[in-house]
Amino acid sequence: MTDLVATARSLFAEGKGLLAADESVHTATARLASYGIATGPEMRRQFRDLFLGAAGIEQYLSGVILFSETLLEKGNDGKPFPASLAARGILPGVKVDGGTEPIVASPHELITQGLLDLPERLAEYKKQGPLFTKWRAVIRIDGDNLPTAEAIHENAKRLASYAKDVQTAGLVPIVEPEVLLEGKHSRERARAVIEETLGTVFSVLGEHSVDRASVVLKTAMALSGSESGKSDTPEEVAESTLAALLASVPRQVAGIVFLSGGQTPEQATENLAAITKRAKEVNAPWPLTFSYARALQEEALALWKGKEENVPAARAAYLARLAKVSAALS
Ligand code: 13P
Repeated sequence: MTDLVATARSLFAEGKGLLAADESVHTATARLASYGIATGPEMRRQFRDLFLGAAGIEQYLSGVILFSETLLEKGNDGKPFPASLAARGILPGVKVDGGTEPIVASPHELITQGLLDLPERLAEYKKQGPLFTKWRAVIRIDGDNLPTAEAIHENAKRLASYAKDVQTAGLVPIVEPEVLLEGKHSRERARAVIEETLGTVFSVLGEHSVDRASVVLKTAMALSGSESGKSDTPEEVAESTLAALLASVPRQVAGIVFLSGGQTPEQATENLAAITKRAKEVNAPWPLTFSYARALQEEALALWKGKEENVPAARAAYLARLAKVSAALS
């Protein structure tokens, strides 16, 4: 277990965080289409290379979460992506959940698939170089109606089974119960739902004898819903987010990483800076960092447009955003 703890802790190296480059084929296709980029496997590989092949990312990234397809692909330098990251001191990881589907009894809520063949897949992935994994559960807020206690509990059970299987396989689990930003809810409601969700997740992890010391939590920040018409100051976000985390996350976890969840790159940067500052003020017991997909990639994708000649400008925008997000950790 000690190796796993050291691996998990190394994701929190000073000034560094994670790039979530683990969009599924479905999500990557939709994401690229929103920038007018038509995709197939080769365009997806170019999309990964844009972010993984950029010189200098090792200054800001401790790890990258990959989609399983990318584990087996090579970058434009001819090296397998996981080996090329590892050679630069960046830990490769892999998303191992099989995506979400509606819950039969509550069709507006989602449950994550992928436990049945997980041990076999982990044994295969392990040969391809990743040292850590991610499983994403999705929790939707709708007024006081959603989430249901059942949806939180079933997702927590699956996160715990996943984490146990992953630790048994000798890999670090990132446990991600994402409370969605979408909705009309208040920041206070988001805080309460995050607190309830994380409280349930850690209680069920305990029942499954998951070792907390090598668990990394990936969570949303507590924000007013995207259709609430409200915008929060970074100080408000920091206060609500830390309140939820302090009430629900055991001090023993290896650390906490934040997803960007649909915030603009600037919001995700400013909110992270305020959270970092408040965490110091309240003596939060865990290291914190970022694990962003959209907030790190958006500006670059808008410039890239799927064209080779735009790669240098797109990578410059990506590096500039990485530098700002990294600076938000100090
Ligand atoms: P975003 O930063 O775009 O929310 O993605 C992070 C992630 O990994 C969601 O599962």
